[in-house]
Amino acid sequence: MAESWTVLKILKWTSGYLAERGIDNGRLDAELLLADLLQLDRVGLYLNFDRPLNAAELTDFRQRVGRRARREPLQYILGRAEFWSLPFRVGPAVLVPRPDTEVLVEEALARATPAARILDVGTGSGAIAVALAHELPAARVAAVDISKEALLLAAENARVNGVAERVTFTPGNLHALADGEFDLVVANPPYIAATDLAGLMPEVRDFEPQLALDGGSDGLDAYRALARQASKLLVPGGWLLVEVGAGQAPAVQELLAAAGFGELFCRADYAGIPRVVGGRHI
Ligand SMILES: C[S@@+](CC[C@H](N)C(=O)[O-])C[C@H]1O[C@@H](n2cnc3c(N)ncnc32)[C@H](O)[C@@H]1O
Repeated sequence: MAESWTVLKILKWTSGYLAERGIDNGRLDAELLLADLLQLDRVGLYLNFDRPLNAAELTDFRQRVGRRARREPLQYILGRAEFWSLPFRVGPAVLVPRPDTEVLVEEALARATPAARILDVGTGSGAIAVALAHELPAARVAAVDISKEALLLAAENARVNGVAERVTFTPGNLHALADGEFDLVVANPPYIAATDLAGLMPEVRDFEPQLALDGGSDGLDAYRALARQASKLLVPGGWLLVEVGAGQAPAVQELLAAAGFGELFCRADYAGIPRVVGGRHI
């Protein structure tokens, strides 16, 4: 009789297999993939180390592990991600929301009035828009993205998180935004310099949407466009807050200063990397 694959045995094997393929957290990924398949949490897995997997479970698990070994992001395989401790559906049309972006949400919350009118440019999964609407029950959020597939997913995420009535999702191009009267404009735009795209991790380079990454020749195209349009988007005294890539903060601050913004600030993420730049439209 063939030897059976128990939870513990397959976790050990998968951890080694994923590590051989250059995946740092192979054990954790293996646990999350298996827990999802067996509809358990990770503690549940630990309590079921001796449980054998049946043939259907094994086939399904091998497929998932194969996808991860080919460097597909774990969140795309699971179809979900967590941001701001809220659940989000994700898929190949949207960037997986990153913990770094929570710093942008924190800075926005520090400046938003309770009934703020907020614009989220390049909303992707809707992470920023939904988190802000969730924290500010009287705020209204307009979210735009050039990707219609992303907007569909973002709208679903607003429904799942109970904020759909206060967040609108509209197709829009950040280079030609419609006029508005916003108190706060937030954006985590594409900011990778075109020449750096090839050097990204395979998970990002080969799976996340190019549209979400490519920031033009120096990575700063979106910031120029947002600074240029600030006066038609923001009320006097309103804030523009943007996430920036490592090393981009000084250049983005200069762009905002040149566009007449005041009270410029820069906030580092929890790894100490300058991550959010903002200024006030005066
Ligand atoms: C870096 S992702 C950020 C997604 C999400 N806001 C987040 O923080 O997880 C950038 C988003 O900008 C969108 N985008 C790219 N070019 C755009 C454009 N010209 N106009 C509007 N949105 C654009 C992409 O589709 C993508 O969803």
